[in-house]
Amino acid sequence: MASIKLKHSARATAARVIAKVLNQQLSLNAVLATSLTQLPEKERSLCQQLCYGVIRWHLQLQAISQHILTKPLKAKDSDITALLLCGLYQLRDMRIPAHAAISETVNASKTLNKQWAKGLINACLRNYQRKQHDIEEKIQQQQSAKYAHPDWLIKRFKQDWPDQWPAIMEANNQQPPMILRTNQQHTPRNNYLDQLKQIGIEAEVISACSEGILLAKPCDVFQLPGFENGDVSVQDGAAQLVADILDIKTGQRILDACAAPGGKTCHILESQPDNDIVALDIDPKRLLSIKQNTDRLKLNATLFSADASDVASWWDGQKFDRILIDAPCSGTGVIRRHPDIKTLRRPEDIVNLAAQQQRLLENLWPLLNTNGLLVYTTCSALKQENEQQMITFLQQHPEAIEHKPETPPAPRRPVGYQRLPGDDILDGFYYACLRYR
Ligand SMILES: C[S@@+](CC[C@H](N)C(=O)[O-])C[C@H]1O[C@@H](n2cnc3c(N)ncnc32)[C@H](O)[C@@H]1O
Repeated sequence: MASIKLKHSARATAARVIAKVLNQQLSLNAVLATSLTQLPEKERSLCQQLCYGVIRWHLQLQAISQHILTKPLKAKDSDITALLLCGLYQLRDMRIPAHAAISETVNASKTLNKQWAKGLINACLRNYQRKQHDIEEKIQQQQSAKYAHPDWLIKRFKQDWPDQWPAIMEANNQQPPMILRTNQQHTPRNNYLDQLKQIGIEAEVISACSEGILLAKPCDVFQLPGFENGDVSVQDGAAQLVADILDIKTGQRILDACAAPGGKTCHILESQPDNDIVALDIDPKRLLSIKQNTDRLKLNATLFSADASDVASWWDGQKFDRILIDAPCSGTGVIRRHPDIKTLRRPEDIVNLAAQQQRLLENLWPLLNTNGLLVYTTCSALKQENEQQMITFLQQHPEAIEHKPETPPAPRRPVGYQRLPGDDILDGFYYACLRYR
């Protein structure tokens, strides 16, 4: 038992995960999912908090570490650099007594088989405690450290949102709330709220969306009443608004072109279970997650793994009444949920993503019936992926007109609607709806 404990402490595992995300450009969700299974259950929550916290504040913690390390550690010791950041995060942002935070972090060097680093970690963390005030003042002078965002992204937010950019970044650095979507085929939202209260889960309805419930504190999905039976799903309220904009009528044929993991496919089917819906995703592994979700919710969709923009590879020639393009995007509206976006994204990605989005729009538009609706959405906060994309499309397609939903899903833009991070409790999201006339 002792050796298991030694190999897998929360702090050592967090250091390994963080080093992989920062140095190998791997997704935090993916690395963490496999690493957590190797940890004893009681250590998992701390490991997860450390990973998310350190990645969220990475640029700030890294700037601090430069003031307490005499020289950067070698690349082969990136786990020790990450462990130091874990120590700093505990001292600054967690309610762990400082002496425990320091001694447990020092001990984790041994778990990482780097006994030599014990003295270094101890000295650096104590150095930080001594010089905390000065160091904290200094890092406020560096923009990327102050806002914990890379310079290129700060520049983009400033260009696009000259008045809102500080609020956007502040919201991006918050911990996200857990939001549920009740299954209208199973149980009315108020009944589900009562069920939550009965088992002591504090929650309230979200007025902006008809099936949304906000939990006071995140919890394990398996604690949620009826989760396995499909009574409820986890989905941010901003994403829940998409099904309303599609305004689906009985019997209409629907295409969900970028569907995995199937949050919106399932929501659409919960409101219209008998409609014919084709759900595509380019990634076959992610397509499996749609199947798992439709199975849990006992819903039926026709699933294909295909590049939606390569129409000849999957289309049967029958047009659609509704098309949803929930496009691959920068994710700059959901950084609070995926803080590794700040580390993994590069400026050139935005250009590539905008080209993919345009290809999807151009190639899927002809598949829409006359009078049909195409809804284009992203979880991006950048204009290039959103309103600029739509403005260009409308200029080049006189047969397309913007359709304005009765209830605007977010603040109005020249075309479509943009919710910025921090506008309210929901994720940053862009919505536009076009009619084929
Ligand atoms: C924003 S996510 C979709 C989220 C999903 N609509 C939901 O609500 O759960 C974008 C998805 O598009 C997929 N994708 C990217 N390029 C694609 C393409 N050319 N054709 C089909 N799917 C694509 C990605 O694999 C990813 O799963």
